[in-house]
Amino acid sequence: MNNNPIGVFDSGIGGLSVLRQIIKLLPNEKYIYYADTDNVPYGLKTKEQILEYVENAIDFLNSKKVKAIVVACNTATSVAIKDLRSDYNIPIIGIEPAIKPAIENRKNKKVLLMATPVTVKGEKIKNLIKRLGAEDIVELIAMPKLVEFAESGEFNTERVKEYIRESLERFNLEEYSYLVLGCTHFPYFKTTLKEILPDSICIIDGSIGVAERLKEVLEENKMLGSNKLEITFYYSGRKVEEKLEIEKLKNLLNRI
Ligand code: DGL
Repeated sequence: MNNNPIGVFDSGIGGLSVLRQIIKLLPNEKYIYYADTDNVPYGLKTKEQILEYVENAIDFLNSKKVKAIVVACNTATSVAIKDLRSDYNIPIIGIEPAIKPAIENRKNKKVLLMATPVTVKGEKIKNLIKRLGAEDIVELIAMPKLVEFAESGEFNTERVKEYIRESLERFNLEEYSYLVLGCTHFPYFKTTLKEILPDSICIIDGSIGVAERLKEVLEENKMLGSNKLEITFYYSGRKVEEKLEIEKLKNLLNRI
């Protein structure tokens, strides 16, 4: 048993969509949620910048004696996970777009992956698609503005709908059976996306997979906790103390 907290990290509020799934599986833990609000969005930064931000965040979480860290950000995982795993000696779990289940269940149709520009252009996603032999099946689209909309709490406005419609214009959506959300900010737009997409398209994300993997790793290492659920929030290393701000984050956590 290990009652130290678990660190969950994202560039902003996106990782809360992952934390929600984690809490469902692991309710008896303490969590430190680190949103790198000073540097969001990551999806438009260089690899070098992202690597530096991620290392700072991980160092901070380490200084809080976390027993494991979840990088609840596809962009950060895509750029930094290899280096992180060799640099730190606690379990570090990353997130990957849920392309595999989409490929397995696609019923001969195509799969659309929506992520940030860094993830879409990255080697990691290309390798994953290649490994699955799905080069002709998966189409990729970068939707950086959704990150900005999410950070400003705008999820279902006309502006958001217009952006989604315009971005998807070049696809014949009837050819697709799955939309994979490859950015943790995107599950907040599920309702809006459902309004726009044909009913036959199934929307999935990778948060359940991460939660299951974390549980597995903690079990394997006999690190499960027996705490009363507690979440402490940090914005780029500064503890969030303001009641209204904590309320806002808790609302987002329960929103999906
Ligand atoms: N939430 C992040 C992801 O999963 C990235 C958002 C951003 O900072 O651009 O990719």
